[in-house]
Amino acid sequence: MSPDNIKIHTTNWQDHKEVLSEIRRHVFIEEQNVPEELEWDEYDESSTHFFATLEHQVIATARLKSDGQIGRMAILAEYRKQGIGSKLLHFILHIAASKNIDQVYLHAQTTAIPFYERHGFIAQGEIFYEANIPHRVMLKKIC
Ligand SMILES: CC(C)(COP(=O)(O)OP(=O)(O)OC[C@H]1O[C@@H](n2cnc3c(N)ncnc32)[C@H](O)[C@@H]1OP(=O)(O)O)[C@@H](O)C(=O)NCCC(=O)NCCS
Repeated sequence: MSPDNIKIHTTNWQDHKEVLSEIRRHVFIEEQNVPEELEWDEYDESSTHFFATLEHQVIATARLKSDGQIGRMAILAEYRKQGIGSKLLHFILHIAASKNIDQVYLHAQTTAIPFYERHGFIAQGEIFYEANIPHRVMLKKIC
């Protein structure tokens, strides 16, 4: 599988709530044991959402909040380490730039810090816990 075969789509919560929820349920709730009440929040309605497809099958999601926070990056386990996360992140950075967002940030699970560093994000501050998972804030200037 080449990342060239992956299509990235931009959407909103109203139009694709079911497919977005299905991927996030697999990755965060079932795989990482994130509680339901933390997974779904008030920002889903107002965020720009993204999903990736391989031959019409949805295999990844992410969202961009209006304040520049990238989150809910989730690639189905069997499709990881093939460049899909990188392709999705590049796409989101391009969309953020087109919205004149000059800096993006995210709460990186500490295991994902090397992935985001490879894409120019810089970790800031102390480790904190969300859903019992250690995180750090990471920033990237994009304009
Ligand atoms: C973190 C996550 C989004 C990364 O997505 P991904 O599709 O695996 O990302 P990529 O394949 O672009 O890169 C991941 C690694 O695979 C490696 N890789 C990329 N293509 C590869 C290939 N063809 N063969 C082998 N390794 C490859 C990269 O070098 C990269 O290494 P790094 O982690 O040291 O930076 C994904 O692991 C995920 O969804 N995890 C579960 C949910 C999660 O933790 N989300 C993040 C919350 S902060």
